[in-house]
Amino acid sequence: MSAHALTEIELQTISQKAIDAKAKAYCPYSKFRVGACLITTSGEYIDGANIENASYPVGVCAERVAFGNALMQGHKSFKAIAVATDIKPAASPCGMCRQFMREFTPPSFPIYMYDKDGNYKVATIQELLPDSFGPDDLLA
Ligand code: THU
Repeated sequence: MSAHALTEIELQTISQKAIDAKAKAYCPYSKFRVGACLITTSGEYIDGANIENASYPVGVCAERVAFGNALMQGHKSFKAIAVATDIKPAASPCGMCRQFMREFTPPSFPIYMYDKDGNYKVATIQELLPDSFGPDDLLA
C-alpha cells in the first residue's frame, strides 16, 4: 500500500460522489454524462461534471471542472480522482485532461474509472501519460 493509498471508505466516497456528479452534467449535445470527484490530501471531496457548449469545442470535461473547482477553493494537493460514465468498459480520461491533471499531481496519482455498473479500473497519471511534459521542463 503506497503512502497515498485511499482507505476503503475514501474510495467508496469518491466513487459515489463521482457517480452522483453525473446528474450535474450539462451535456445536451453529446448526451454523454461524466461525473468526477477529487479527494484532496487533507480529505476534502470536490466534484465536477462535463459542461458542454453550443460552440462544441468550448465544452469542458468533468475532470477539468473538478480540478478547476478545487484549485479555486485553494486546494493544491490531491490524493486521487474518480471519474464515472454510463458506459462499459469504463471510459478513460481524454488526452487534454491527462495533461491538465499532470500539472497538479505526482506520477503515482491514481485515476479510478467507473463504468455504468459501478465497477472500476485504476491507473496512475504516469501510466496514462508517460514521458510527459510538465512545469519542471520549463526550468530545465
Ligand atoms: N468527457 C469528459 O467529461 N471526460 C472524459 O474523460 C471524456 C469526455 C466529456 C466531454 C464531452 O462533454 C462528452 O464527454 C463527450 O465527449
